[in-house]
Amino acid sequence: MVTSTKGAGRAMTTATRPIRVVVSGPDGRMGRAMTSGLPREQGIDIVGTLRRADASPSVAKTLAGADVLVDFTHVSAARGLMLRAIEAGVRPVSGTSGVTEEDLRAVDDAARARGIGAVWAANFRLMGVLLTHFARIAARYVDTVEIIEAHHATKADAPSGFAKELARNIRDAHGDALFDPPVRNETLAGVRGGVHGGVRVHSLRLPELQPNGWHELIFAGGQELLSIRHDDWGYEAYAMTVANAVRKVMEPGVVGLVRGYGAVIGLEV
Ligand SMILES: NC(=O)c1ccc[n+]([C@@H]2O[C@H](COP(=O)([O-])OP(=O)(O)OC[C@H]3O[C@@H](n4cnc5c(N)ncnc54)[C@H](OP(=O)(O)O)[C@@H]3O)[C@@H](O)[C@H]2O)c1
Repeated sequence: MVTSTKGAGRAMTTATRPIRVVVSGPDGRMGRAMTSGLPREQGIDIVGTLRRADASPSVAKTLAGADVLVDFTHVSAARGLMLRAIEAGVRPVSGTSGVTEEDLRAVDDAARARGIGAVWAANFRLMGVLLTHFARIAARYVDTVEIIEAHHATKADAPSGFAKELARNIRDAHGDALFDPPVRNETLAGVRGGVHGGVRVHSLRLPELQPNGWHELIFAGGQELLSIRHDDWGYEAYAMTVANAVRKVMEPGVVGLVRGYGAVIGLEV
């Protein structure tokens, strides 16, 4: 059901016409996948694009004809684009990395005030969401975990937004600080990675990984290790999962921010 476009389409049968989508950042990797893939999804039309250089009146005009803004741009732009869309009564669906908790609160508040929905997800991959789900289960029982993420060398940010979401989920499910063994003699600054939510994160950036990437969690304790790894590659498959989010955000009962692709498909994470 989750991977079926048709099944997701049934979730918004109230729509009598295709959902009109505007894509911001259409020249980026994700933007190109959206403009080419979303029109192939049931009940979705692309009616416009927003580029960095677009003047304000042109942005207003483009948004005026839309139901949903799909945003994969840059952290410096995402909050402003989402709020601008909400102001115009357009529901944002964003996967831009690096937005802060405060950004998300602002989007949630604005969407609630406007009586519409919004979606932000650090990872629009089904199996990425399953990884989060499994991580939360393991984190309830295990005190030590580290995250390794690997992406292409041109990725703008490090760590990945998804690695930070994983760390946040692990800390939340664990309910307490995780064990972070101190190193007595660290001879290379930064060699133990960064800490987010009390969880160590290590980022690899390798040119050959384009367009692949992975996130690996290594839990340890009681003379046992548990490794859970999610690999992904290519961009085409995102059109289907983002289409599910577009349909979800159009459901009449959806008001305020839906956070994470798990919440879009009804998986508690
Ligand atoms: N949630 C997920 O599952 C997921 C998956 C993949 C990627 N992402 C995230 O999505 C974002 C885009 O990824 P990508 O790989 O497509 O990046 P990309 O190839 O670098 O493309 C970024 C796009 O955003 C535009 N942009 C940059 N700054 C902007 C600004 N200030 N105002 C308006 N547009 C701006 C760029 O326009 P110009 O051409 O003018 O520079 C470009 O079109 C990143 O944050 C990435 O981490 C999320």
